[in-house]
Amino acid sequence: MHRVVLLYSGGLDTSVMLKWIQDEYDAEVVALCVDLGQPADDFDAVRQKALDLGAVASLVVDAKEEFARDYVAPAIKANARYQGGYPLFTALGRPLLAKLACEAAREHDADTVAHGCTGKGNDQVRIEATIATLAPDLKVIAPVREWSMGRDEEIAYAQEHGIPVTSTVERPYSIDDNLWGRSSEGGVIEDLEQPPPGDVFQLVTPPTEAPDRPEDVVLGFRDGLPVSLDGEELGLVELIRRVADAAARNGVGILDHIEDRVVGLKVRDLYEVPAAEVILTAHRELEKLVCTGRENALKPQLDALWAQLAYEGVWYEPLLADLNAFMDRVNARVEGEITMRLYKGSATAVARRSPNAIYDRSLATFNADASFAQGAAPGFIELFSLQSRTAYRIAQARERG
Ligand code: ARG
Repeated sequence: MHRVVLLYSGGLDTSVMLKWIQDEYDAEVVALCVDLGQPADDFDAVRQKALDLGAVASLVVDAKEEFARDYVAPAIKANARYQGGYPLFTALGRPLLAKLACEAAREHDADTVAHGCTGKGNDQVRIEATIATLAPDLKVIAPVREWSMGRDEEIAYAQEHGIPVTSTVERPYSIDDNLWGRSSEGGVIEDLEQPPPGDVFQLVTPPTEAPDRPEDVVLGFRDGLPVSLDGEELGLVELIRRVADAAARNGVGILDHIEDRVVGLKVRDLYEVPAAEVILTAHRELEKLVCTGRENALKPQLDALWAQLAYEGVWYEPLLADLNAFMDRVNARVEGEITMRLYKGSATAVARRSPNAIYDRSLATFNADASFAQGAAPGFIELFSLQSRTAYRIAQARERG
């Protein structure tokens, strides 16, 4: 091992790692920090911190557009929510981080990638499966899995080695965030018998403190993707930001979620997913309007499969590409506008418009109209119920002996 690309966040774990790799392996470190739209990060400070800690190069890659276009967009088309809830923002980001690490390793002639994941989570699986697929010759190290340092030892190591320990170390939770959401895990969140502690949520206003008046937002879709907000055309990154702001101030997008990790653990996550909550709900609403009943019965099953694969991080699995072909085909018709009402934690579709809606008001109306052949209904019902009626009659006859 002579040069290591380290996926670097600027936090305590990866900062200790930056030093530790130099000392332990006598290797050079190239720090790579990726901007996936995580709101609070100061990337200039992160870049400088890595150099101060001895990195031979410190890269900050703005991958927001790529993340939105190639990872979040297909997730929207698949209404992607793992186990019916979690919109997968972390899971979608990891394959991209791993791909960028492989590219940086090539560019900087490194033979190893290092990441800060623990041995208990999904992220190690997602990152290492991607690297093993794209660059099987690269070595991977995960120091947190190897060293026996706990939180206190890490802080002691940091103080010994001149690594600035910021106040964020005091935060009692494990946080991950990007454009599509924010998660908190660990600490008192692990006590399933307690409601979410008040200090967890940093993005979304508590619903009880949200405004007393509802706020309506109109989302315009084309080819299954949101393209406008209240009539203004926007790129996906900017649109997600603005929807997140509107949702967050109305208390929308808090999720207290129990989930099954790929390594077998069942855990609790507290999610803040304001944009995903509004956009995914609006997307599914529009999709239902333009799809047939048969399509509407099948698609949620394939959506769940898509979410499972994305959660596992098997981004290059052929089945995922197969499913994407189906998603694209259906979504080619998903065009129109959905008005979402945001109010004290809820996001509800209240108005719909689409040129592809399989909806004919003159057919659906309760008012008298000749175009629907009501006279054909009795014959239809007779045949439609034939098999069930026959089964019932035979079962009754057998019971009577
Ligand atoms: N439970 C979510 C997932 O597995 C979020 C994980 C957040 N990752 C983290 N390192 N804190 O995708």
